[in-house]
Amino acid sequence: METLTVSTTPIEGQKPGTSGLRKQTRTFMGPHYLENFVQAIWNGIGGVEGKTLVLGGDGRYFNDRAAQVILRMAAASGAKKIIVGQNALLSTPAASNLIRKRATDGGIIMSASHNPGGIDEDFGVKFNTPNGGPAPEDVTNRIFEATKTMSEYRILEAQDVDLAALGTSDLGGMTVEVVDPVEDYAALMAELFDFEAIRRLIAGGFTLRFDAMHAITGPYAKAILEGTLGAPEGSVVNGVPSPDFGGGHPDPNPIWAKDLVDLMMSDDAPDFGAASDGDGDRNMILGRGVYVTPSDSLAVLAANAHLAPAYSTGLAGVARSMPTSRALDRVAKSKGLDCYETPTGWKFFGNLLDAGKITLCGEESAGTGSDHVREKDGLWAVLLWLNVLAERKMSVKEILAEHWAQYGRNFYSRHDYEAVDAAQANAMMDELRGRLGDLVGQSFAGRSVISADEFAYSDPVDGSQSAGQGLRIGLNDGGRIVYRLSGTGTVGATLRVYLEDLSDDPATFDADPQEALADVIAAADQIAGIARHTGRDAPDVRT
Ligand code: G1P
Ligand code: ZN
Repeated sequence: METLTVSTTPIEGQKPGTSGLRKQTRTFMGPHYLENFVQAIWNGIGGVEGKTLVLGGDGRYFNDRAAQVILRMAAASGAKKIIVGQNALLSTPAASNLIRKRATDGGIIMSASHNPGGIDEDFGVKFNTPNGGPAPEDVTNRIFEATKTMSEYRILEAQDVDLAALGTSDLGGMTVEVVDPVEDYAALMAELFDFEAIRRLIAGGFTLRFDAMHAITGPYAKAILEGTLGAPEGSVVNGVPSPDFGGGHPDPNPIWAKDLVDLMMSDDAPDFGAASDGDGDRNMILGRGVYVTPSDSLAVLAANAHLAPAYSTGLAGVARSMPTSRALDRVAKSKGLDCYETPTGWKFFGNLLDAGKITLCGEESAGTGSDHVREKDGLWAVLLWLNVLAERKMSVKEILAEHWAQYGRNFYSRHDYEAVDAAQANAMMDELRGRLGDLVGQSFAGRSVISADEFAYSDPVDGSQSAGQGLRIGLNDGGRIVYRLSGTGTVGATLRVYLEDLSDDPATFDADPQEALADVIAAADQIAGIARHTGRDAPDVRT
């Protein structure tokens, strides 16, 4: 086997975003594109010589080919060992767990998360550090810098490694260990939760449906929910991962998981419904006749986590991304817990988790997790809910109603304007940024502005600074609007507008969030001139 050193030139735009480098699949398949980026990862982390890494992905189109390239490039640069999920599959939380459990030097996850898959859709590559979490900004900046000066990469000339067979093999002096993608993760879940109680709940007639959306969680959910916990076969639907996710968007929200939502709102609804995304880190939770927003789910889990064995001694603290609703803050306040507000993206929770400042954290974008790994974890959230339901012996709807009665309801919605012209989106943000100082005291749609700023974060653990993390407008009576541009989109700009309003009046608790938020929504357009700048009079997606 020969090691080739291939001449290349820098490729523009290889800047890791909110969660690694995400591009259209054809871009990743273009000449030297993947190779340049992988070499930049090696260069950015000080080389891979003698190192052990984890490798796996969500099974989307190009996952298998990319894995072979990454293996050959790791071998060519002297890596000691790569632990790879069978058929190059690993959910994101399972990869995080393997990195930690096997104490590796990090890992590479191939995924574009909830973005659709296929040759005309999206692909992605992300580096995770030895703590199992997404690389923090100093690391991704070094990787990006390395892409700008790329002149050559090293790759082994070799046949494909057989990734279907479990066990170890040699690739040019590097060990390749193919492992069962589910086993270690399932063992971790059994440690965290009272599986006996969940098993009894299900045996007692509690019904559930888990929609794996043709993505990576199918095998995990089947093994754990149907295999270990005894849910009847068929409780997990769309459970076979496919390279194009059955032609759908593997995004667990009421739009893309509509079949599940329709079922849960029907007379035939099971007691509990849930879904996860392309790479298994997101979750959607429903009860019979009720959808639980991710922000509410995070707050409910924070209020009830002590019912699961892993959290029985209480939580060290909690955190949420800035745009996530402040329902969590209310729970934290009443329990006397520290509550941190971080920029969007899971990587910002890593330091807080490592330092033991928080146990539980989450984002409005259907991400919830804890200190058990360093990624958000879809199936973990489902199992924690099941553990809570088994202990509380109440329905999801009852738990939510009780939660609002105790803490008030933070009505919440996110409006996304997709594939907006990037120049128009930036112009809107620039104009608003320029006016932030004048807004306080002004009224829009009957609501007055009480604060206006651009969110910047100073990491309480290492002091690192992250500026420009979203424009925040505080309104009277607990209202809030946040504007930010997505860091994961691959076409044009995606404008996200996060809308929140607080109610302590039980008579309002059953209102439709879009109606409850009507004046905040109107104010959001008036303040930023969304329609004027983008030409859009309605969002593409409301979650
Ligand atoms: C989106 C979500 C964010 C999440 C990220 C990765 O990022 O908003 O909460 O961490 O996907 O799953 P965005 O596109 O907004 O930058
Ligand atoms: Zn994801």
